[in-house]
Amino acid sequence: MNNFIFENATKVYFGKGCVKEYLACLSGHYGQTVMLAYGGGSVKKNGVYEEVTACLQKAGQTIVEFSGIGANPTYEKVMEGARLARENKVDLILAVGGGSVMDCCKAVSMAAVYDGDVWKDFWASPGVIDFEPLPLGAIVTAAGTGSEMNGGAVITNEKLKIKTGRDYPKCNARFALMDPTYTYSVPKKQMVSGGFDILSHIMETYFSEPDEDNVSDDISEALMRGVIRDLRAAIQNPEDYTARSNLMWESTMAENRIIKLGKRMDFECHQMEHQLGAYTNCNHGAGLAVLHPVYYRHIYRDGLEKFQKFAVNVWGISPEDKTGEELARAGVETLADFIKEIGLPTTLRELGVNESTDLKAIADSCNLAPGSYKKMTCEEILKIFQECY
Ligand code: NZQ
Ligand code: ZN
Repeated sequence: MNNFIFENATKVYFGKGCVKEYLACLSGHYGQTVMLAYGGGSVKKNGVYEEVTACLQKAGQTIVEFSGIGANPTYEKVMEGARLARENKVDLILAVGGGSVMDCCKAVSMAAVYDGDVWKDFWASPGVIDFEPLPLGAIVTAAGTGSEMNGGAVITNEKLKIKTGRDYPKCNARFALMDPTYTYSVPKKQMVSGGFDILSHIMETYFSEPDEDNVSDDISEALMRGVIRDLRAAIQNPEDYTARSNLMWESTMAENRIIKLGKRMDFECHQMEHQLGAYTNCNHGAGLAVLHPVYYRHIYRDGLEKFQKFAVNVWGISPEDKTGEELARAGVETLADFIKEIGLPTTLRELGVNESTDLKAIADSCNLAPGSYKKMTCEEILKIFQECY
């Protein structure tokens, strides 16, 4: 295994009823004023807002609301939250939602106390945080990004058409409350998109060196089999607690740095999806679902052994009567079939990308990660986009 240092500052409270049991006590540790941040209003329909505000009121907290955080949160929205936090001398930011709300709040936690331009100093290129961001707590309502237990925040600068993710350990939430029943109301379309995002995070870690036996790959294979099983079960019955609670923790496990330890990682597919998102505002998990099979058809020959392992250990494909290349390819095609089975889009057209979209401009704007088995070029990314169309 490669060398690593590991720390994760987020304390997790997991399970049915955890918000009612712990929130009042937790929120009191940080001061009087809590900024309650949420998205477009799902929390008001499913009862989460009521439950959370009741706990905060019980604790005697002053609540400042920061609402309307949209999918693919923008830098503009971050600045709105930062102004609100400063004006109201907020002591704790409470992010109630999925990845978009949590990510926006992480950036707000920095912007609310930083005098410079956080986009320029921390997202345009990686920076060093030598100050304390405002304390952040997360209440997760959708499984997918795993943002609740890392410092990652993906922010879109609409003016510059750039969507960038950075992971700053200082932005880890102090605590994360994870009640799987909160995810029952996530519409199927978003549930499968979040589920595929989990799978993507694991695959982008798994398909990278080292290739000799290692703990990360072992955990990753188990997690991938779990996500496939649990997504199928949650589609059958959205209120299957076992499936929903597994998905919620699989989402966290994929992104809480544990499986990344000692791995080189790829995440080129995420780079491509982020720029697609910057130009088209497409859904993150659905964008990944369109790109992954096509991307893997481009790279599997360069990581043949790992792709064979994936076919056998994740999808249960028999290696009998197959050449190594056939076996590896069968794994990729089974992944593509699964994407169709769970109802995710398979083309950019289905994703809503229209003919006037400048795919070349998007390809040219993609960050080229060092890659793992094969380093991409902007030309090859454009080919991938065209094949996805
Ligand atoms: O806005 P509301 O009304 O709350 O509705 C949301 C939104 O429409 C809805 N939703 C969430 N919980 C719900 C619910 N609807 C009903 N019941 C519930 N319990 O779901 C929709 C999508 O929410 P969103 O937060 O946008 O989705 P997701 O969790 O997939 O987050 C996507 C964002 O996270 C970034 C993505 O790029 C994208 O910007 N990512 C963040 C990462 C990180 N911080 O580590 C890593 C990821 O790779 C990803 O890039
Ligand atoms: Zn993702």
